[in-house]
Amino acid sequence: MTGFVLDRVPGITQGAGAIDRLGEIAARLSGGAPVMLVADPGLGPSGAIERAQAALRAAGLEVVLFTGFKSDPTAAQVDDAAALARSERVGAVAALGGGSALDVGKAVAALAPAAAPAEHYALCANPLPSGPLPKICAPTTSGTGSETTRTAVVTTASGAKVWLWGDEMKADAVVLDPTLCVGLPPHLTAATGIDALVHAIESCTNANAFEANDIYCHAAIRLVARHLPRAVERPEDLAARGGMQLAAAFAGIGIDNCGTAIAHNIGHALASLRPVHHGRAVGLALLATLPWNVAADAEGRFAAAAEALGERREATRLPGAFDRLLRRVGVKVSLAGEGHDDVTPERLARQMAAPENAPMRRSNRRPVEDEDLLVFARAVLRQS
Ligand SMILES: [Fe+2]
Repeated sequence: MTGFVLDRVPGITQGAGAIDRLGEIAARLSGGAPVMLVADPGLGPSGAIERAQAALRAAGLEVVLFTGFKSDPTAAQVDDAAALARSERVGAVAALGGGSALDVGKAVAALAPAAAPAEHYALCANPLPSGPLPKICAPTTSGTGSETTRTAVVTTASGAKVWLWGDEMKADAVVLDPTLCVGLPPHLTAATGIDALVHAIESCTNANAFEANDIYCHAAIRLVARHLPRAVERPEDLAARGGMQLAAAFAGIGIDNCGTAIAHNIGHALASLRPVHHGRAVGLALLATLPWNVAADAEGRFAAAAEALGERREATRLPGAFDRLLRRVGVKVSLAGEGHDDVTPERLARQMAAPENAPMRRSNRRPVEDEDLLVFARAVLRQS
């Protein structure tokens, strides 16, 4: 048999009100030292930051709050937070927010033990410092899966998006409180939920896929099929929100072990040319490429994904089922009329061939030839 490595999964605590247990979890990990709370500044009106602070203080912990970043965090912002973590001698980091907040929190905890800036470690140029601070992730969106991956993405001074990667970046504990997600508007619930679904589908059908990881991917697909429409239609439904939180965390485990594939290649290429939400971009890319991918389903991986999505165990069922779900949750499939006509199929295809997008192309199970790129680019830009 072919060998595999199923990486460690953080301890997961889920339930309505689970954020109130942040203090006891952090106290265990920090040994009583101050805890840095890296929180998305956009959470202000929700009261989530105050609730997390109260939980930490109730456990007798001093809180060092850091909110100095926005979406697409910069390496400089991570450096500022890591310097603060060192000067305040924090013993653990708790991250609260969407993917950006979790990425900042993970990076700070990994980089705080040494003085070198984040860019020093970009793209695994240098090994991460030993002895990372323990970290806890409490997501308020259900999509990126950052809470269960070893990756963070930061923007460098030159504007390039680069990743930091390593076991030192992985959370030790994850807190999933569905009450933190009820304020997420329907269009973002849909787009982030589709991102989680694409993670799950790509990581159980790509060239790296293996059976032990399929368990998480298939569970994530089933959870999205069952809960995403309800979470979009009834934002306050805690069962639906909880289902989507678990789906995103499981799909994060899926990509942490096996990565993504051509839909993420196209999604990243598209988003670098025009402002399209990442979840929508990878959703449209999967829609455009699934028929081509399922036509070569020799090992039945796409058939198994179709079954998880509630269809018969036949690969050809998957594109239609995905299409219906995408439209049901209100994701706009056509990119026409959005004022970006300068994005031609040729430009998009060139971007898909760029070195930074090569790993996602390579991991696709069916080999993607150069001539396929333009065909896919046309399909993504012209589907309706
Ligand atoms: Fe993604």
